[in-house]
Formats: sequence, C-alpha cells, structure tokens
Amino acid sequence: MWTGFPLFPEQASTMAGRVDALYFFLLAISVFFSVLIFTAVIVFSVKFRRRSESERPQAILGSLALELTWSLIPLGITAIIFVWSADLFFSMSRPPREAMEVYVVGKRWMWKVQHLTGQREINELHVPVGMPVRLMLTSEDVIHSFFVPAFRVKKDALPGRYSTLWFQATRPGTYHLFCAEYCGTRHSGMVGTVTVMEPAAFQSWLSGGASGQSLAGAGQKLFQEMGCSTCHRADSQARGPNLDGVFGSTVQLEGGATLTADETYVRESIVTPSARVVAGYQPIMPTYQGLIGEESLMQLVAYIRSLNDKAGAAPAGHAAPAASPAPAAPARPATTGTGTERRP
Ligand code: CUA
Repeated sequence: MWTGFPLFPEQASTMAGRVDALYFFLLAISVFFSVLIFTAVIVFSVKFRRRSESERPQAILGSLALELTWSLIPLGITAIIFVWSADLFFSMSRPPREAMEVYVVGKRWMWKVQHLTGQREINELHVPVGMPVRLMLTSEDVIHSFFVPAFRVKKDALPGRYSTLWFQATRPGTYHLFCAEYCGTRHSGMVGTVTVMEPAAFQSWLSGGASGQSLAGAGQKLFQEMGCSTCHRADSQARGPNLDGVFGSTVQLEGGATLTADETYVRESIVTPSARVVAGYQPIMPTYQGLIGEESLMQLVAYIRSLNDKAGAAPAGHAAPAASPAPAAPARPATTGTGTERRP
C-alpha cells in the first residue's frame, strides 16, 4: 500500500470497502457535475456574450423536453443514492446474531471496555479477526462518539441509554480509535487503539489477565450485594417482577402500554424505576441513580440477560423452569456473547 501520503485510512473491516464505494460514487457524481456546470458557465459566457449595446435576445418560451431531462436524470441519480445508502445503512445497523459482544463506556476522557468474559481495558479494544463484534455503547457523562476510521464505523455514546455498533475486522493489526464528538478540554486526547488479532492469539489474550469473573457473574454478585434479589425473586415473597426470561420479552406496563425489555429499559428500571412500572406492581423500588456507575449497570444488564440462558433454550424462555442448567455452549466458547442468540 502507498503510505507516503495516505488520503484514506486502511480498509480493515467488511464494511470499509462498501462505504468507500458509495463515497467514491458520490465523489464522482460531484466531480462530474462540477466540471459540467463550470464548463457550461465559461462556454456560455463567451458564446452568448452581449455583442452590442442595442442587442436584445430572443424570448425563450420553455422546452418540455429540456425540463423533463433535467428533472428525471437527477431523480434517477438521487434514487440510486437513496437505495444504495439505505442498503448500507441497514447492513451497518443490524449486527449479525452471532456477534461477539463487548460493553463500552465513554467517560471524559477515556474509553472503558468490558468483555463478557470479564476482561477490562482502557482506551484499548482487542477483537478477533473475521468475527462480527457488537459494541454496546453508553456514556457516563456527556455525548461521546466511538470512531474507528479503518473500520468506517462511528456511533455516538449517549448518557442514559445504550447504542450499538458492529463491525467485522478483516485483517490483523492495530487501528486508531477516536472520540468524534467534542466533549470538553481533553476531547482530542480521548483516543485509543483497536487491536485485531488472529483467533488463536485472541483466545490466549482472553485467557490471560482475566479477573476470573464474567460480566454476568459480576452482575449477579451486585444483584445480591445491592439487595435486588430480596424483591426480584420467583416465589410469593416477591415484591418486584421475577426477572428470569424478562430480557427481550414484551412487558406490560401500568397504564396499559407495552414495550420490549431491552438494555435501555433494564438500565432505566434501575436508575429511575418509577418511570415505567410493570403492570401489577407498586412503584416501591428506590432509585439507584448516582449509587451505581455505568460499568456496574452494564454488569447488571449482562446478568439479567444471562437469566434468559438459564431459563432454558425454548424461544419463550420465561415459560421454562428457571432451575434448569444453562445448556453447554456450542462451538464458539468464550468469545461468543451468550444471550445475543435469543434477541428478538
Ligand atoms: Cu469524548 Cu470527545
């Protein structure tokens, strides 16, 4: 590759070539019409210049053919751009189901990364090559934006909610990670690296330096420590909904509305429990706003998601007995985000 004066970042993800193709198409259209218009301006200004003081041009009464041409051609071009970019947008916004999952918290001025297996990193992200990776992004303070130019992906990390970004790296290497949303004094220093590794090397990286506790395991510990389990339980003592199989299911709210219990709803139910109360329950849960950090919230979310796996392999997970053990994970061991499989 010509590295003397690179105009473009490397193409290191499955999306990079597709984004660049659209970009170059837009660029080519812009160049073509710029040249066409400027050429016409110059040629016409010479050809149709005023030749004498008394010259009066002939009146033009319009031309249907001309007007149809300059309407239909741009319509066709913009329709192509619309369909092409919509297709790309859908591909970028729909992570494959088997994607490995990583939780990322933006904070002035660093990126904090947690893997489902328990590894943590700061301003670094290690991923395997050739495997889709889904990031769950949130922010602890202001809006940040997670940007990896070599992958052609960028997504805002917003306080109070989760956003997702996915990519599949195509070649091992180290790539820049930027914050692409001005977030204060040291915004420009909120940078890091994404390290793409061969699957075997990634496995050994995963097994080294592990805290010994998975993300969901850490969440389970918190669930006990913070007393959540005293109300959220399966028996008749429960004062809050039993959470087995809740994740991804449709929840009936007080007042008749329904919603799908996703990461953002689970998080909201912890920090502002009274906002959307499940039908049949009293709004008695205290708020945990300010008592629990974003990383701990992600652990709790991961734990509540993992309850679906315990509830059995049936699609309607919450109908199965919660006591049955989690089925042995097939082929993809530690790297696969367990729980993503049953997302709606
Ligand atoms: Cu974070 Cu800019």
